[in-house]
Amino acid sequence: MLKLLKNWMVKSKSTNNLDIKGGPIPHHIAIIMDGNGRWAKKRALPRSAGHHEGMKVVKKVTKLASQLGVGVLTVYAFSTENWKRPKDEVNYLMKLPEEFLNTFLPELIEENVQVRIMGDKSQLPEHTLKAVEKAVIETQHNTGLILNFALNYGSRYEILQAVENIIKDYKNNEIDGNINEELFSNYLMTQDLKDPDLLIRTSGEMRLSNFMLWQLAYSEFWFADVLWPDFNEDHLIEAIAEYQKRGRRFGGI
Ligand code: FPP
Repeated sequence: MLKLLKNWMVKSKSTNNLDIKGGPIPHHIAIIMDGNGRWAKKRALPRSAGHHEGMKVVKKVTKLASQLGVGVLTVYAFSTENWKRPKDEVNYLMKLPEEFLNTFLPELIEENVQVRIMGDKSQLPEHTLKAVEKAVIETQHNTGLILNFALNYGSRYEILQAVENIIKDYKNNEIDGNINEELFSNYLMTQDLKDPDLLIRTSGEMRLSNFMLWQLAYSEFWFADVLWPDFNEDHLIEAIAEYQKRGRRFGGI
């Protein structure tokens, strides 16, 4: 990893000299990618231009995260509330996963990345679902970083689904009445994934917007003023450097 980092520092125009070599790399990073619209507005461009630029950033960040040894990167690509946006914008956002995968999947496969999706798949347009599921199948045996797309994802919906399924399984005598955290976690869409160690939200907003409410209980939060399309490798390194300074006690002392 030391060599990789050195190479990255040399290749990038990085001006930040943050040293993250000695500290722990977060296993799971979750990102609320916010600010695409404002980025576009500042340039008098349509909102779609901001989303498109944001898509390219996902690829850059995935690559560096993978090289740093991050295990899971969960990105909030579309929330259950995003359907309220104008139809054109929703249609555009639903096309982006296809474009992302058509453009970048070969490179992600070279990086040994495994693609996953979490969210209410039943509401997704067929073309979106088809493209993502194809990538999920094609990468299912990859053993590197898991790139987990939260697509039509909402944490309250996820929790309600979990409760419904627990009740169903209880009634069918598949589980007993001992509902503990481990059991509950297994009914969530993250199932086998560990909880995020680090949450990043861009654009200066400081809220969770219905994202991974259960899973983020003990995560470290890092909010940046940068708009998502301007987020780059330096910001990721900065977030990890900040994470390494935090004392995680998980409620202990
Ligand atoms: C929030 O910014 C962003 C979204 C709702 C969409 C996020 C999608 C991407 C970054 C594209 C990546 C997608 C894939 C499939 C790789 P906003 O539009 O709310 O920005 P604003 O608050 O400035 O208006």
